[in-house]
Formats: sequence, structure tokens, C-alpha cells
Amino acid sequence: MPGSNTLEQRLRERLANLETAGLLRSLQPPAGIDLASNDYLGLSRHPFLQRSMAEAIAREGCGSTGSRLLRGDRESFTRLETRFAVFKAAGRSLYFSSGYLANLAVLTTFAEPGDIIYSDERNHASLIDGIRLSRAERIIFPHNDVGALARLLRQQTGPKFVVTESLFSMDGDFAPLAEYAELCRATCAALIVDEAHAVGIYGPRGSGLLEAAGVDAFISIDTGGKALGVSGAFVSGPAWAIDYLIQRARPFIFSTAPPPAVAAALEASLTVIEREPWRRVQLLTRASHLRRRLAEAGIPVPHGESQIVPVILGGNQRALQIAQSLQRQGFDARAIRPPSVAAGTARLRLSVNTDLAEATLDGFVAALAGTMKECAACSAACS
Ligand SMILES: Cc1ncc(COP(=O)(O)O)c(C=O)c1O
Repeated sequence: MPGSNTLEQRLRERLANLETAGLLRSLQPPAGIDLASNDYLGLSRHPFLQRSMAEAIAREGCGSTGSRLLRGDRESFTRLETRFAVFKAAGRSLYFSSGYLANLAVLTTFAEPGDIIYSDERNHASLIDGIRLSRAERIIFPHNDVGALARLLRQQTGPKFVVTESLFSMDGDFAPLAEYAELCRATCAALIVDEAHAVGIYGPRGSGLLEAAGVDAFISIDTGGKALGVSGAFVSGPAWAIDYLIQRARPFIFSTAPPPAVAAALEASLTVIEREPWRRVQLLTRASHLRRRLAEAGIPVPHGESQIVPVILGGNQRALQIAQSLQRQGFDARAIRPPSVAAGTARLRLSVNTDLAEATLDGFVAALAGTMKECAACSAACS
């Protein structure tokens, strides 16, 4: 192939550079005690979900065989969406095969050139990519800074969107949703909230942080692959907006619908969330236990209350080496490095799940404290 040598050379050089910078990523299946997954409620292995999915495969087959707009639609998707809209107290919900695609769909369908999108500086890559693809003007505002956002919003006229996560995936802190909702009302901006890490956990019924704050957004995005234990994502909002999405959202239209059995598993997941509220209570109790034990061990973590607990380590190599050492000790903790987080803020992103016993968390904190001490002793190599 002409040019393949130079292409190979270029890519090999880039891989070598990534390795030198401590940024090379690798595929590594789960092993050891889970401190890294988003299976916060332990639902991915819940017997009721497993049974519901297996029965649906027997009934409906494996694949959906086409786009929802062609032969890929199923009553099970509609039933699930209707139920999710009630759960979310929204006019209508639409199911997508992933949260990434749902975010691309929302931003590229509702925002267009000439509009302005205000985006929190720590928003997830899927929101950033959706904003870029929308070709609307992008204004980044400082993380969770209501005052700065208010000043920026008042400088502009025309169609405006404010985009934020409700629980930030790498920092584990909450967005000030009530203040944003008020500000958006006052400035006629449409609020778009990504509840990927909050759905299933927060609010009296577990539908997320919008419910907990008692406010509405124009659109929310709720993933099915994290606390809900399955996969995909729901976009929820007023019926007219979702009707429009079905007509125009390219990630929805030009893609094969998810396997129908996934809808059955998600319905089961919603049932478990309703019937077993102890799971979310226990999750947050365990998260605060971990935070307390880390503080007692002198390991600083940013202030927060959620099940996502970042231990910021700084250098990429240091984060990598500490994670690898913990893995050797039987704890599956992963290093998060740029571009997932800002340069110089590489970290362990500890995600608590409801099945982690307090004694296990104590053992983990002891292992982490020991590893950090060892790493400090050889800090030249770990910087
Ligand atoms: C905040 C946020 N939004 C969206 C997504 C994408 O969701 P999915 O994994 O279903 O594609 C993620 C995934 O990590 C996320 O953290």
C-alpha cells in the first residue's frame, strides 16, 4: 500500500511518545476487587436482570436486525421508554445504544450554527464531541461556577444551551443544578444535564440528581450501563423535543437498534431500583466510609459525598505505578490520565459499589497508604 511505511512510522512514533509520557493505554479485563467499574449498585450480575435478559433472548432472538425506524423497532423498547419517562418525570424518553451516542445526538440535533453552548470545563468527552459536531459557538465556563456562568450568559443573546454533568465522572462532585435551573429560566437558556453517574442512585426514587434537587431540565441523558447495570442511554425531555430527535438524530436513525433483550434487562433494572432502595443507601454509606478512612490515613481527597472518590496523584507514571501495585495486591483500581483529566492531575478514580464490605475498603486503604509511602520513597522514578 503506498505510503503505508510512513504511516506505520508515524503511528509507531506516536505510540512511543505516549509510552514515554506514561500515557499508553492498555486493554485489561477485570481482575481483583472491583474499585473501578461503574456497576455502583451491583446490578450487572443481579439474578433478576440476568433471567429477564435470557428469557428475552429466547423470545426475541439476539439482534434487532435494523434501525428503529426500519425493522429494528420492538414493543419492548417502547414499553421501556414509557416506563423510563415516568421514572424521570419527563414527557417522553428515547433509548440509544450508548451514552456517547445519546450525547452526540442531543447536541447535534438541538444546537446549530449561530447558537451558543455553555459547557462546564470538566464535561465528559462525549459532550465535548457533541458540541464540536453541532458547529454551535462553544463557551467553556469554570467548573461548577454559577457566578461566572451567569456573567457569560448575560453577555449574549439568541438561542443558548447550558450543558453539564450532574455528578462529574472523574471528580465525583455535584453540579449546582438548582442554581443552573434558575439561571436558565432567567436567561432563556435550555439546560442539558448528563446524569450518567447519578441515575439509579440519587433522589427519593433514585432517578437522579435532578429529582434530588427538585428541578427540571430541558433534556436529561441517563445511561443504562452504569448503576443500571446494562447498557445504552435514555434521552428524556418534552414530547415535542423527543419527537424531533426521532426525525433528526443521526446516531439514532443511522444505526442498528440495540439487542431487544437489553430492553428487558433495563426494565428489570428499574424494578430492582424501585424494590431494593437499600442498595443505594448502602452504596452511599460505603462511599462515606471510604472517604473517612482515606482522610484518617492522611490521603487527601477533594471534598464530596458521592460514590466516585478521586485520589489525585499528579504525574502519569506515578498514578500508573500506584495503580499497578494495587492491582498486584488484589485491588482493581485504575489510573486515570490525560486526556480523560487535565494534565498534572492524573489520579486513581475509586468507584465504590454497594457490594464492597467495610473491611474490604479498610484493607484497600491500608494497601494504598503503604503503596503511596513506597512510591514517595522512590519519587524520582514515579514523578
Ligand atoms: C458523564 C458521561 N456521559 C456519557 C458517558 C458515555 O456513556 P456510555 O458509556 O453509555 O457510552 C460516560 C461514560 O463514561 C460518562 O461518564
